[in-house]
Amino acid sequence: MKKGIFISIEGPDGSGKSTQIENIKQFFKDKKRDIVFTREPGGTAIGERIRAIILDNNCSEMDYMTEAMLYAAARAQHVSQVIKPALAEGKTVICDRFVDSSIAYQGYGRRLGEAVAVINSYAVAGCMPDVTFLMKIDPSVGKNRIRADQQDRLESEKEAFHDEVFRGYLKLEEENPGRIVGIDASRSIDEIKRDIYSKLEEVLNCL
Ligand code: ADP
Ligand code: TYD
Repeated sequence: MKKGIFISIEGPDGSGKSTQIENIKQFFKDKKRDIVFTREPGGTAIGERIRAIILDNNCSEMDYMTEAMLYAAARAQHVSQVIKPALAEGKTVICDRFVDSSIAYQGYGRRLGEAVAVINSYAVAGCMPDVTFLMKIDPSVGKNRIRADQQDRLESEKEAFHDEVFRGYLKLEEENPGRIVGIDASRSIDEIKRDIYSKLEEVLNCL
């Protein structure tokens, strides 16, 4: 099977993911590579409908396991409809959040633990990113970058929840040193971009 490159970007809300995704897109455009940009939850028509339910501030009664399964359901659709076909065509897939978000937010933040990895092993069906950039920033700093009236159901969770999510991310980084690249996201946009670009050059050189 012809194989493209799969890159995901992770981190607390407001950590600068969208900002750096623009830089990552530019990097691959400059290299004349065919890119597919996508995001989770969402990335497909079905996934976007699931996203609207999960992030709705009126869905406060949602059970945590329901939430975890909805994220995984959106992901299963995303992997089969968008990510796998694009990689098979040799494209570069850039994904704003992927399975690590579920492990961090539902596994650690919601304290659902191992169940989240199990459900998601079916959703990703072996399709994992080649590189994951983890934007590391104190969650309270990230939160302060987002306007209060623009926060969705997950973003408006309490500080302890976001601290636990961040702890989950750090654990994932420790457990996956070959895939997850930790980025100090408290620095300037340009400094972060330089780090990301040098890692991407390395990735291309290894192809
Ligand atoms: P995310 O996609 O992770 O939620 P964004 O890229 O949307 O984060 O950034 C959130 C806010 O923080 C935006 O207003 C953005 O301009 C700003 N921002 C992004 N990166 C930095 C940075 N390195 N330093 C300071 N502010 C930043
Ligand atoms: P989004 O608006 O995409 O946030 P951001 O711009 O910070 O990425 O909202 C996605 C929210 O959903 C975010 O708070 C993280 C959360 N999330 C999970 O809890 N589990 C998941 O598996 C995914 C993909 C996202």
